[in-house]
Amino acid sequence: MTQTEEMLSELALAAAAAEGRLAAADSLEAVTAAEREVLGRRSVMAEAKKSLGGLDPDRRRDAGRAVNQVRERLEAAAGRARARLAEAARAARYESERLDLTERLNPIRRGRLHLVTQARDRLEDVFVGMGFTVVEGPEVETAWYNFEALNIPEWHPARGEFDTIFVNLGQPEEVMLRSHTSPVQIRTMEARRPPIYVVAPGRTFRADTADATHLPAFSQIEGLVVDRGITMGDLAGTIDEFVKAFFGGEVKSRLRPSYFPFTEPSAEFDISRPDGSWLELGGCGMVHPQVLSNCGIDPEEWQGFAFGFGIDRLAVMRYGLDDIRELVNNDVRFLRQF
Ligand code: DAH
Repeated sequence: MTQTEEMLSELALAAAAAEGRLAAADSLEAVTAAEREVLGRRSVMAEAKKSLGGLDPDRRRDAGRAVNQVRERLEAAAGRARARLAEAARAARYESERLDLTERLNPIRRGRLHLVTQARDRLEDVFVGMGFTVVEGPEVETAWYNFEALNIPEWHPARGEFDTIFVNLGQPEEVMLRSHTSPVQIRTMEARRPPIYVVAPGRTFRADTADATHLPAFSQIEGLVVDRGITMGDLAGTIDEFVKAFFGGEVKSRLRPSYFPFTEPSAEFDISRPDGSWLELGGCGMVHPQVLSNCGIDPEEWQGFAFGFGIDRLAVMRYGLDDIRELVNNDVRFLRQF
């Protein structure tokens, strides 16, 4: 082997090793180091170039071409290594700076109806299933609808019991936030002729301080039936039927004598608790003949029964809450459970 051949084979070996290092280089520094080692001033390449000077022109041309090819190969390999590293760096940065606009810290939750709305909807369903129609009335009422037509004249003690919130309109104590849904009875009987089978759910208001069992703004549902030959038995049967449909078969109902100016006789109705005790739910009775007459309905021809109770209390009972104020605290963590 001539000296030149020896030099060229040494160069080829060094080049192959350098190519391997370039392909595996994991940093720009590693690329530059490998490059310098094989192409730099003290490299095998530099030695080879130097030795070319001592060759005769023909051999110098061939050997020079061979050396150049090696250099080009190595430069190309270094270029590829740089491009590869630049691409990897860009990809890493791209990944680290990525903003996923569809990503959320909290999964989206479906909204749901408020407990009281759910209870009201179910009540409506149950009564509609029993043949009733749903009606509504205004939340701001006059003394006629809220009291007088319901047989509660101005002097009547029952007026005071309602803790009515009056509105600063018209004569003193003439306009008010309705303190019960019973005025819808009057509006219905004025607007329709019997037979009447309606329920009237809605918001009601009293000047009560909120506590575990009271809210100043709450919801009631009123029931009214006016037809021929209606008796207390129809009332008791209707309440029993409704309680079964709403709470399930195990819950029983009972009526206890009571007093309301707009019914005669009047009763309060209770439902049974699992432990056997009774819980008061609402009031009811046979529509007072005077109330029928007030609405232009002949009490000799028509009889009726009515009932009313709080929807919020019903929700409290059904869901076993220990404080009615939970319904209006608007704590999503609480409301989400239902
Ligand atoms: N309006 C009464 C109240 O809010 C509840 C009530 C009692 C409604 C007897 C009625 C009824 O329809 O017949 O306290």
